[in-house]
Amino acid sequence: MNHLSTKLFIYLNELKCVKAIILHGGQGTRLRPLTHTGPKQLIKIAGKPISQWGLEALLKVGIKEFGIVLGNNHAEKVVEYYGDGSRFGASITYIYQGEALGLADAVRRTKDFVGDDNFIVYLGDNIILEGLEQLLNFRGSASILLAQVENPQRFGVAKIENGKVTTLVEKPKEPISDLALVGVYAFSPDIFDAINEIKPSWRGELEITDAIQKLIDGGKTVSYHIIRGWWKDTGTPEDLLDANLKLLDNFLVEDNRGSVESSKVRGRVYISQEAKVVNSDIRGPVYIGRGSVVENSMIGPFTSVGDDCKIRDSEVMNSLLLDKSEVSGIQLIDSIVGQSSKISKKTSGFHGSRFIVGENTVLEL
Ligand code: G1P
Repeated sequence: MNHLSTKLFIYLNELKCVKAIILHGGQGTRLRPLTHTGPKQLIKIAGKPISQWGLEALLKVGIKEFGIVLGNNHAEKVVEYYGDGSRFGASITYIYQGEALGLADAVRRTKDFVGDDNFIVYLGDNIILEGLEQLLNFRGSASILLAQVENPQRFGVAKIENGKVTTLVEKPKEPISDLALVGVYAFSPDIFDAINEIKPSWRGELEITDAIQKLIDGGKTVSYHIIRGWWKDTGTPEDLLDANLKLLDNFLVEDNRGSVESSKVRGRVYISQEAKVVNSDIRGPVYIGRGSVVENSMIGPFTSVGDDCKIRDSEVMNSLLLDKSEVSGIQLIDSIVGQSSKISKKTSGFHGSRFIVGENTVLEL
């Protein structure tokens, strides 16, 4: 092969990913009650749904065509939020998975959308903001991102030998390595044949980890890249608070589009349109959503307040308040207040507390 044809050969084998699939399935059981009214991927942190952080990171590396796989937990809310994608500069096609039968089952359903292209699969409950460009161009059948973790039993893990991925195990009881599969993958259409060869795992799911192992067993090339920076699988309330802290700390842009009266605003604070801050002390990083009102209160640091919230006579620190929530007369720390929930202190009468508490709610007094 001469120099030019070698170059052409490499080019043809390094087809750039042009499409991305963002998965929105799963029941989000560990995030109840927040997931009783919507899918976990739409929980807003620092002003954006978790999966929008991913979509925007993918847009930034040049992907414009997206397939969103919908599960059966309030799928209509995902369609309502993202629409045809034009609002985000993306084109979005929806693919219905229905009952959650595993990540590989979700990927299998995207075959027609993907066609002959290489593509990215991004788990919509993960936040991965670096390393995506490493996935775009790859040779072989798949490319994976790995990260060192302290609790490999919670993830799919990969064993690397002599610079090659040799073994992948989903949720290993005995850890074979501490390198977890981060929730973003790049595949060639070879993955569809591999998925057809796997059987459900002990948890009754078709695991994408097993499908990648099938590629390796069949002699296909699976490349990898180890990321060193921050990423998050937002499976639990603690993960959400951690993601809130990191996103506010690293990505919040300072701006005031609302109104501020007789208040102190320090550090990086984003105040959205139609939001009102009156007689309050805001210590960034803090995000305040559209139409929210903060009065006689201390907010921050590390606090995201959603849209149309009301905070009165309160202190709120290191917390996540979802849209339309209301708090008054209380001190909140490390808390998540669900959409349209209200917490207030009674100022007169009997000194007991009154609660109307939904399923799976946690209260620590
Ligand atoms: C899934 C994958 C796992 C991967 C993890 C990353 O796990 O099965 O291999 O490490 O996402 O977040 P799940 O979220 O289904 O527990």
